[in-house]
Amino acid sequence: MKKLFCLLTAFMLLATLTACNSETKQTTNPNDEKVYNVGLLQLVEHPSLDEIRTAIVDEIAAKGYGDVIKIDYENGQNETSTMNTIVQKFIADKVDAIISIATLSTQSAAAATSEIPIIFSAVTDPVAAGLVSDLQNPDGNISGVSDYIDVGAIFALAEELTPEVQSYGLLYNTSEVNSVSVINDVKEYLDAKGIAYQEAFVTNIGEVTTAAQSLIGKVDAWFVPIDNTVAAAMSNVAEIANANQIPVYVAADSLVHDGGLATVGVNYTQLGKQTADMLIRVLIDGESIADNPVEVMEEYSVTVNPETAAAIGVDVSKYIQ
Ligand code: TRP
Repeated sequence: MKKLFCLLTAFMLLATLTACNSETKQTTNPNDEKVYNVGLLQLVEHPSLDEIRTAIVDEIAAKGYGDVIKIDYENGQNETSTMNTIVQKFIADKVDAIISIATLSTQSAAAATSEIPIIFSAVTDPVAAGLVSDLQNPDGNISGVSDYIDVGAIFALAEELTPEVQSYGLLYNTSEVNSVSVINDVKEYLDAKGIAYQEAFVTNIGEVTTAAQSLIGKVDAWFVPIDNTVAAAMSNVAEIANANQIPVYVAADSLVHDGGLATVGVNYTQLGKQTADMLIRVLIDGESIADNPVEVMEEYSVTVNPETAAAIGVDVSKYIQ
């Protein structure tokens, strides 16, 4: 039944996409300016990726290109096959550029075209994801803005807020290279400190709750990397953790807003803004991708969740303005 449903959804999606194909794309706007068509592929809808997309669209408007750069937004539904179909539609539509939000979606776009400029947003580790071989010198059609983070800063905060924690549970999807990169850093950090950890893996959103439950009673605290699969079910994870008085440290501010205890992370609105600025340089100013090294966010800030802190009895008052 589930298979049939998926098939039907895939068919309906294809039908909609094909229907869109027959539209003639605008090439000039009412002011007779050239219009650039941009396909925007977002891996899945969760608060952080939505925040990035809004920031991209807002920045294009703020810079005065709202009538010049037309965005065709598509949601990849966290499914590679869906994303591949969407990218094929962008190619058929002869878009001038592709913006891809998150790692798996950028990998789909990259696999489909080496011609159309691809500007990614929030790809944690573009080298490990096979998108560029050198952050400083993108030599293909792909560059963008990375949300690489410093896990040492997160665990230093954890040590300060919950010094009694002696072991961590790591909750993530092993097929998200963005998560694996962060987790490799985490393991290196914890190994060096002699702190124990256990892993709980998920392969899809439906498995997140069970995986979280499997960690109860085994470790003192949990850690969630910049993982899209867990992000889509983060409020459930937080509910389980809070009910069991378990602190959850996370790698993105949205995961704190959804109930995680704390993070030291990047500002995703700023990240979206920088992505739009790169797009504008490439489309409007005629810069090439090679002129645009991958940008890494330089500022990190602490985000804490006061309700979660109160629910599990951790003092975060120092971090509340
Ligand atoms: N960095 C993630 C990726 O490479 C995408 C992402 C951005 C994300 N913000 C997030 C994932 C917040 C989880 C939570 O795919």
